[in-house]
Order: sequence, then structure tokens, then C-alpha cells
Amino acid sequence: MSQTPFADLKLFITGPTYVRPEIRQAGLLPEFGHRDSENAKRFKPIMANLKKVAQVGDDHQVIIFNGSGSNALEASIRSLVADNETVLNVSVGAFGDFYHKMAVVNGKKNAQLKFEPGRAIDLAGLEAALVEHKPQVVTVTHNETSTGVTNDMTAACALIRKHGAMALVDGVSLFGGAPTCIVASGAAMYSTSTQKSLGLPAGFGIAFVSKEAVEKAKTVKNRGLTTDLIGQLGRAEKNQTLTTPNCTLANQLYVQLEDIVNKEGVENRFARHAVMRDMVQAWILTLPGYEPFAQEGFRSATVSTVKCPMAMTGAKLKEVKEAMRGHGYLFDPGYAKLNTALEEAGKPAVFRVGHMGDITPDMLAPYLETLKAVLISA
Ligand SMILES: Cc1ncc(COP(=O)(O)O)c(C=O)c1O
Repeated sequence: MSQTPFADLKLFITGPTYVRPEIRQAGLLPEFGHRDSENAKRFKPIMANLKKVAQVGDDHQVIIFNGSGSNALEASIRSLVADNETVLNVSVGAFGDFYHKMAVVNGKKNAQLKFEPGRAIDLAGLEAALVEHKPQVVTVTHNETSTGVTNDMTAACALIRKHGAMALVDGVSLFGGAPTCIVASGAAMYSTSTQKSLGLPAGFGIAFVSKEAVEKAKTVKNRGLTTDLIGQLGRAEKNQTLTTPNCTLANQLYVQLEDIVNKEGVENRFARHAVMRDMVQAWILTLPGYEPFAQEGFRSATVSTVKCPMAMTGAKLKEVKEAMRGHGYLFDPGYAKLNTALEEAGKPAVFRVGHMGDITPDMLAPYLETLKAVLISA
């Protein structure tokens, strides 16, 4: 290969994330025709293994969207919110706001319920909003990547269902690193993508759709084309994508899922992520002046957030990022809009540690040690 100017950094950001050598290598597997019999050799096991990672059975169908998680999220809005209905968008951070924006720009009648950054969904607040707005559909973020909060999906969805609404869940930064709770929560559609806890490059949105959602979608008008769940399912039932897929990524997804399901094991993978969350929490306690940012009891298994002392400003975190680059790492200096808002309010900045996908405790330990030294000397 001719020389490139690219650095081979280890990505500890919140997606895209580190891709292990075996998966890079899988990108060299043969290209194929997406309407040829070779396609099903990849996508049939991919669909079956995705259900194993999601821990769902025959009551759910899998759709693979070209694009990324946002394409699946937008399809949920276009196909599952009718024009005469109200969608309540529950936000605990930037990605909850993002789902809300999708409802707004698609012209859906909407309401928004927001919680303070770092806090999880408060069930009493959710219930009050359900009573006030009487939505038919509610969107929720399972894992809020900007704040490192994992909501209790089962409890939130139970409440949403009690009030007669359908729950659409954004599981983009959790899927592959922790249980989806799709069956226990009764979520109608759960969306995710490849470049986070699945440890792959970006390129597909992935959705799990319940029978209830399929029946509802049939009644909704103007579902678009690539955002039409029914059109997508017509192809998914044949283990195909609606439009031409990225063959390189499909090969990598096949290999990665075989490894997750048959080598590491789904439960072991979830346990590994929980260990990394606990490692970061223990590490924060060794850092004078630093504190966990996310609410206790709701801290994510895939992304941790750290509240800095006042002297470690957003600008200084960018210097830390450059120092970490010198050590071969890509550090995450925090979600930019969140840090701007926090600093404008006179509050300390927050940085993130992405520990998702194929990052292991053995990789995280030296990363945290290096980061500690850099933070202390900054
Ligand atoms: C929680 C969450 N939702 C949605 C998105 C958007 O997903 P994608 O970039 O795969 O379209 C992201 C991306 O970071 C995310 O973290």
C-alpha cells in the first residue's frame, strides 16, 4: 500500500471506536452482489446473530439500514408517528435533543421533556409529561452518549405503555456492550449502529422492530422511501438491504458477530463492559479534584464522564487531547456543546472515556494511567 499521512491512534472516544486487527483484516474478504446468493451467506447469519446480541426472539424483526444509527432513528419517526399524533421526546442530553429535532424537522406534532445533563429520566417527571401531553409515541435515549447516563429502559417503557403510548428507543451507543432490555421493556423499535459497542466502522443503522410497530407502520402515511419500515422489511425478510450495502462492512459485521456470539459470548461481553465502567469509577476516586459526572446508579457501561476541577477548563482539555495524541491515543475532551453550556453557567467542564466495543480492561488500564499523568501535569 502506498504511504498515507494517517496516525494509527487507539480511539478512546465515544464512537467511532477502536477496530481490532482481525476486523480490519475482515475488510479484505471478497466483495459480493447484494441480490446474489452470496449476500445471504453474510446477512442471514448477521440477522440471526444480531437478534442474539439484542436478546430478542421471533417477535422482532431486524432491519439493516445503509447510513448510520440516525437513519434508523429517522425511519422510526417517519414510519411510526402519524400526522394526527403527538410524539413526546424525552431528553437527558444532546442525543435526546437530536431525536426531538428529527420529529420537528419531519413536521410531527411534538412535545419535549428535558432533564438536567448528568441526570437520568425521573419517572415522576415522565409520568407528569405523559399525563399533560397524552402522546401516542414517546422517544427515549437508552444510553446518552454526551453525559454517560444509561436510563432504566424497562421502568421508563413500562410507564409509557401504562399511558397507552408506544416507546421508540435510541440504543446507538449501548448495543453490543450491555443488554438492550427490548423484551422486558416492550419497546416498539430499538435503533443502533455499527461504530460504537459493536467495535466496527460506521456504515449501517440497525433496528429491532416489534410486531406491534409493523402493524402501526402499515397505517402511517408518507413514510418516505429509505425511512419506510414496511419497504425495508420487504427486503429484510429476504436477508437483504433495501439499497446497496457497504460490502466491506458487511464482511466485517459477519466476522465480528460470529466472534461475539460464538467466541467471547454475549454475556461475557456485557460483563467486560461493566468491569471497564467500574475501573473508570475507581480511577476517578484516585484523581484529586475530579468526580463522576453521571448520576449514581445510572452510569454507562460504554462511556464514562468525569467532572473536572474548575482549573481544568474546556480549553485545557483540548491541550490534554494533544498530549494524549503524543502517547498514541485519541482522548475525548467532552461533548463540545455541553462543555460550552456548563462553562457559560460557571460550572466545571466534563470529559469522557469511551470504553466500548473491543476495548479491553488490559487496554483501558494503561490508558487511564497515562491520562492520569497527563491530567496531573497539565
Ligand atoms: C445516543 C446516540 N444517538 C444517535 C447518534 C447518531 O448516530 P449515528 O452517528 O450512528 O447516526 C449517536 C452518535 O454518536 C449517539 O451517540
